[in-house]
Amino acid sequence: MSTIHPDTILIIDFGSQVTQLIARRVREAGVYSEIVPFQSAAEAFKRIKPKAVILSGSPHSTVDIGSPRAPQEIFDAGIPVLGICYGEQTMCAQLGGKVEAGHEREFGRADLTVEEDSALFQGIWKKGTHHQVWMSHGDRVTALPEGFKVIGTSKGAPFAAISDEKRHFYAVQFHPEVVHTLDGARLLQNFVHNIAGIKGDWSMKTYREQAISAIRRQVGKGRVICGLSGGVDSSVAAVLIHEAIGNQLTCIFVDHGLMRKNEAEEVVSMFRETYNIPLVHVDASDLFINALEGVSDPEKKRKIIGRLFIEVFEKEAKKLGGAEFLAQGTLYPDVIESVSFSGGPSVTIKSHHNVGGLPERMNMKLVEPLRELFKDEVRALGRELGLPEKFIGRHPFPGPGLAIRCPGGVTREKLDILREADAVYLDEIRKAGLYDKIWQAFAVLLPVQTVGVMGDGRTYEYVCALRAVTSVDGMTADFYRYDMDFLAQAANRIINEVRGINRVVYDITSKPPGTIEWE
Ligand code: XMP
Repeated sequence: MSTIHPDTILIIDFGSQVTQLIARRVREAGVYSEIVPFQSAAEAFKRIKPKAVILSGSPHSTVDIGSPRAPQEIFDAGIPVLGICYGEQTMCAQLGGKVEAGHEREFGRADLTVEEDSALFQGIWKKGTHHQVWMSHGDRVTALPEGFKVIGTSKGAPFAAISDEKRHFYAVQFHPEVVHTLDGARLLQNFVHNIAGIKGDWSMKTYREQAISAIRRQVGKGRVICGLSGGVDSSVAAVLIHEAIGNQLTCIFVDHGLMRKNEAEEVVSMFRETYNIPLVHVDASDLFINALEGVSDPEKKRKIIGRLFIEVFEKEAKKLGGAEFLAQGTLYPDVIESVSFSGGPSVTIKSHHNVGGLPERMNMKLVEPLRELFKDEVRALGRELGLPEKFIGRHPFPGPGLAIRCPGGVTREKLDILREADAVYLDEIRKAGLYDKIWQAFAVLLPVQTVGVMGDGRTYEYVCALRAVTSVDGMTADFYRYDMDFLAQAANRIINEVRGINRVVYDITSKPPGTIEWE
């Protein structure tokens, strides 16, 4: 997005994997920022007239010929500049210092010693104290440019933090944007509030307004189609886009029959009745479930669902008479997960079906207003847009739905049993007040039948596994430690109320080595 904003921090991206985290920390400090790739930084600098600049890290080495540089103007403009990792190195190289290729990489947690007081550390770190920081670098600064002094050192980086307090230039070899640098967020706050002098009154409300004008600018009078999944991300994207361009937007909800109990109906009624957003609801459950019958390989199941989803979506989009734009609720973690850092192939653990493929096939341009945001920020934006709290706080739900919670072959009967068990389990979680403490909780129907006894009779029915995990971002997870009484109550209700299940087990695997879903 690029709307001129009077108090902007310009973040120049040299290709680090964590540049978006810098933007996120700046947003958390209530300050607006824009990330621009180094190639267009000079143009952006002129256009945006930022209050301060942050230079990101990079996979490059400043020592290499042709490695990227910051536009010289930013150092001549009299505004504060903060260099991070590669940002420090290029700053030194450009201002007359020296950087050399290191023989050893310094990676992970490091201990920083504060050598001098500095405006960057004010109110946070005092001279002589030690702090945990996170490093990831090979090259290092070996001589400082004129006017600079060392304000922090670590074992592997004698120039771990440097400053020219007069010119308001600061640079750190460590990454303040990642959580492993324990006070990193506060250092960045210091930079944007105290050093750059920006108040910090930017909020999701402003993000919403800026996103709306950016969507209007991008789309003009064009038509947009948005694929709704029933989840938070695509719904927030759709509501935001509708606010920007009204009925130029049509949503298509491909109902694959693999949703949780009542979920499809809830989505349709929310969109049609509450928001009055044009919505095509395609009931394609027969198509999906017939195609899945007899398929038990998890990747084959995912591939079938992905392929059918695209086919149905494409057919419906054609019926609408075509549109130039395709809207997606892509989040920042989807962007980093689906683009391999090295450009080479990375191992596919599971093929997620909701990113990639569709736009190229359909020859449409993408509208992705959430591309810069993390999950919790999307929730905040959803609240800002007035979406109901119960909907916004929903646990994530995978694109392939209940099919991947039914290991082995999927049948209508199994899906119905699973839906009921899942609803009872979630009801118990809500009643116990645990829903918001858990990242994701769901039932899995195992392809195993066991013997039981109910009343005077023998039963031979399915086993249901219950799963609940805590997580920050879904990348790693820990199983949730329930009280045994809770598990007993949930298991009891499932066995009593759900025909077809006579045994319940609890999954105590964390991620890694497990994954959150079973397939
Ligand atoms: P795993 O099972 O890989 O899941 O540990 C991590 C998170 O991703 C969700 N998930 C998906 N989400 N499409 C999605 O939109 C998918 O194909 C998909 N597969 C897994 C999962 O529910 C968890 O939150």
